[in-house]
Parts: sequence; C-alpha cells; structure tokens
Amino acid sequence: MKVLIIGSGGREHALAWKVSQNSEVTKIYCAPGNGGTALENKCENINITEIKNLVQFAKNENIHLTIVGPEEPLTKGIVDEFKKEKLKIFGPDKNSARLEGSKVFSKNFMKKYGVKTASYESFNNAHNALLYIESCEYPIVIKADGLAAGKGVVICQSKKEAKETIDSFMVSDIFHGAGNEIVIEEFIEGVEASILSITDGQTIIPFISAKDHKQIYEGGLGPNTGGMGVIAPNPYVDEEVMKAFYKEILLPTMKGIQGEAMDYKGIIFFGIMISKKGVYLLEYNVRMGDPETQALMCLLETDIIDMIKHAIDEDLEGYEIKWKNLYSCSVIAASGGYPGNFKRGFEININSHKGKIFISGAKLDGDKLITSGGRVLSITATGKNIGEARTAAYEALNSITFNNIYFRKDIGIV
Ligand code: AMP
Ligand code: GLY
Repeated sequence: MKVLIIGSGGREHALAWKVSQNSEVTKIYCAPGNGGTALENKCENINITEIKNLVQFAKNENIHLTIVGPEEPLTKGIVDEFKKEKLKIFGPDKNSARLEGSKVFSKNFMKKYGVKTASYESFNNAHNALLYIESCEYPIVIKADGLAAGKGVVICQSKKEAKETIDSFMVSDIFHGAGNEIVIEEFIEGVEASILSITDGQTIIPFISAKDHKQIYEGGLGPNTGGMGVIAPNPYVDEEVMKAFYKEILLPTMKGIQGEAMDYKGIIFFGIMISKKGVYLLEYNVRMGDPETQALMCLLETDIIDMIKHAIDEDLEGYEIKWKNLYSCSVIAASGGYPGNFKRGFEININSHKGKIFISGAKLDGDKLITSGGRVLSITATGKNIGEARTAAYEALNSITFNNIYFRKDIGIV
C-alpha cells in the first residue's frame, strides 16, 4: 500500500511516523515533507505542491490513500480534484473546508445550527464596522474572514485598538483580501482546549483532548505562534466539560454537516473555550493541529490507516479509537526571534535516544539536519502523569542543540 501525505511540518512528520507503523504500508511519499520525513521509515520526500501535479503523481504512482495535513490545499479544493479522478483522499471537500477558510461562513453555520459560540456581527465594509465599535463593550475580538497565517485574530482592549485593527484589515488590506470581511465578536474569558475529532459525515468521534500553549513566552505572554507545546489529555477537560461539549457543540455541528449535505470525511478540530458561562466554540479547523498531532500520535493505539478507512467508507458509527492510558507532552524548539524575524541555516545536533523527535522546520543537507523554519522541531514524551511526561520531554530536549534555540520551559505546568 502506498500513501501520500501532503504538507511539510511537524504534524506531517508525526502522521508519517504513525502511518509507517501499519504493516501493509510499503511506501509513504511526503509532498514536500521536511528533513524529518526524509529520514523516517518507509518515507520519501517529493517536491510537488501544485494540486494538479499531486493528482497526476497519485495517478501515476497508484497511490492508495492521500492524507492532507494543512488547511490551505483543503480550502483550495484538493479533495474535489482527487475525487474527480476517483483517487482516495482523506479530508473535507472545498465547500466543507469553508468551516475553517471563512470565519463569516463558520459563524453563520454555528448560529444556524445552534452551536454555542460567542455572539458576533459580520461586516463587509469598514464604515459600518467603525460605527459598530462605537457602542461595544471592551474587550472585543476582531477576526479576518479568510486565512491569515494565524495572524487574523486580534483581541482589542479599546476602541482605539479596534479602529486600528479595522483599518489594517479592511483599508490597508494587510491580508491581501482575507480581511475584506470581518467578524467582530464577544470576548470570552476562560481556558482553551483543542478537541480534534474524526468524521465520516454522519458520526463525529472526538480524540483525546489537548492543551496547546500558543504564546511565545512562558506564562502565556507575548505574541501568538502556531503553538509552542502541547499536553494531552487536557487536564481542564473533565467529564462535565465533555458533556457540555457533546450537547452544545458536537451534536449541533453534526446536524449542520448533515443539514448542509457536506462531503466531509476528515478531521474536524474544535477550538473551545471553557468559561464560567459554559463551553464555547471559538473556531473549527478542518485539519489536525500542530503540535497537537505530535502529542496525540504518541498516544494513539489504533492503527491510523484503519481509522481513516472507516471514515472514508462512512463507517465510523460504533468505531472504537483506542488510546494509551498515559499523558503526552510535546515541546517545540524554535529559532530564537520567532514568530518575528529569525535566522536559519544552523546545524542541529541530537544526542538523545529518549522521546520522539518530530521535525517541523529543518531540512536534510547531506547527513546533517539544518534549521529552516521558525518552529524547528518538537520532542514528545509520555508518562503516567503530566509531571512525568513533562520531565521526560525536557530531559530529552536538553540533549538537542542548535544556535539560537528557544523553547518555553513551562509546557505542561497547569
Ligand atoms: P481563532 O482562530 O478563532 O481560534 O482565534 C485565535 C485565538 O484567539 C484563540 O485561540 C483564542 O486564544 C483567541 N480568541 C478567539 N476568539 C476569542 C473570543 N471570542 N474570546 C476570547 N479569545 C478568543
Ligand atoms: N496548534 C493550533 C493549530 O494547529 O491551529
């Protein structure tokens, strides 16, 4: 069996590693992959990113299954193009991917189907948005409608900040179109959790919960990043939270996917806020999280190919996903300066056999791994409790060096 994995981050390395454990899989192509997938068992990187060329490659190579990592190809309709050629692919179609690709679409979907979410208004002209913020209570949250590389959400503490944000999104057009429409919503205070799930369009099965650490500095300070570390399960997601999540978020979402007749066989990731007023859905992602995937793949016992096949065959009802009865801690090592400017091109030295290293932004140069991105790698370790997993992850991280390495020291301190 040949598998194609689309993407180039730590998430895709973790997926490739998990897929490689299926004994029927003989070959995994990673497009374009990275220095980690280049070295992973059964894997080969291929330098193809255009959707039509990926379709051609999958046809020529008789790829049995394609798994899409990032949101961008999903929102561009990669699933539709593969399906036109009768190629098996795991992910939502272009229409369903709007749940992540358009904040206005996803908020309207939540409202229509009664998914608990922050109250909001959407605007497609700056004049009306500026009028609206005159009478708001602050803080408020302003979101660019389209994909903005994680920079499209601003929590505004004052009218002045809101005005500046509207100007930069809608007038200066810093996101080249993605901010032409915006959502302005109520600020919800609480603790965030990532609940990744798998769906076949009829059933949604949640994975073990995870806790991302989005800000660059310890204590949740500084600008947002793609994610600096994860622990799973998330200690704040107890039975009561799960009950509210099922009733007020998961089930209405399932109704919506059916009601809109979405062709959705893929991952649905719920970004939730656990607040004093209940459990709110902040956003949907239509793909796995990074670094949530790295932490979760180290806990997943079920064969991932079997699980994905059940989703594609619309056969998830009653399917049991098995998890190790452990905690997982994943810590990102980044290039100093990220998420701002940083230098790349440094050699990575690894003297550790503990934990599992997933490469995010490094390439292979001969037999050397060289830093090439903001988030460079993550190390994931498991343990019987969070403390054990955390200690093991940090111990392993101590034996990894590269110039300007930066990591948060408080991943998993709750
Ligand atoms: P989103 O892309 O919608 O998840 O937003 C990115 C981040 O902004 C979230 O992970 C939260 O930390 C924060 N955020 C988004 N919406 C809200 C909200 N309504 N209230 C408070 N924080 C929010
Ligand atoms: N780690 C959060 C995300 O992947 O969106």
